[in-house]
Amino acid sequence: MSASLPYVLVVYYSRFGATRTLAEQVAAGVEDIPGIAVRLRCVPPVSTTCEAVEPTIPAEGAVYATVDELRHCAGLALGSPTRFGNMAAPLKYFLDGTSELWLNGALVDKPATAFTSTASLHGGQEATLLTMLVPLLHQGMVYAGVPYSESGLLATTSGGTPYGTSHVAGERSDRSVDDTERELARAQGKRIARLALALRSLREDS
Ligand SMILES: Cc1cc2nc3c(=O)[nH]c(=O)nc-3n(C[C@H](O)[C@H](O)[C@H](O)COP(=O)(O)O)c2cc1C
Repeated sequence: MSASLPYVLVVYYSRFGATRTLAEQVAAGVEDIPGIAVRLRCVPPVSTTCEAVEPTIPAEGAVYATVDELRHCAGLALGSPTRFGNMAAPLKYFLDGTSELWLNGALVDKPATAFTSTASLHGGQEATLLTMLVPLLHQGMVYAGVPYSESGLLATTSGGTPYGTSHVAGERSDRSVDDTERELARAQGKRIARLALALRSLREDS
């Protein structure tokens, strides 16, 4: 990865691995687009012990995201498991640490998208994705979902929504991400990469 290339930051939290698999597909989609790189990152869990400190490098998955990486990204893809129809606390905690970016307008006019995983088919995917969008709009980001020109959106019998990609993990959270869910996540990655390049030019021109 070239240090000078613009990049899409793919940030996720995942406890059982489903959101991580979606994140990897979104990242693969970004990599399909020339002229832009991807940084795949996660966030640490939050602890009820306020002073608890996580190891600097997680035991598995991507390394932890920093606020600086968010500041300098050209686009953002945010992934979270559904927790009672909303994003998981670790991701919200990360976003709550970005007031300085908000004060300085660091994310204004940058594209963002979101993805999620639920246990049940009607367990709140759309609610999660729409509520993940709210803080991104406060940051001035331009939200992009998944268009119906992606045929998988109509064909799917599991995850996949116009608000962002998703996965249905099943009651025991052990159902694998299926081909349609993977294709949609990859298409979402390509789209956010293309938009990141386009909006970057627009920001440079203004
Ligand atoms: C506290 C908690 C709340 C949850 N809330 C929901 C929910 O509202 N709807 C749902 O379908 N699944 C819910 N789940 C299940 C997770 O969303 C599901 O297992 C998801 O696939 C986990 O993603 P991961 O593999 O990336 O950790 C919840 C799980 C936990 C631990």
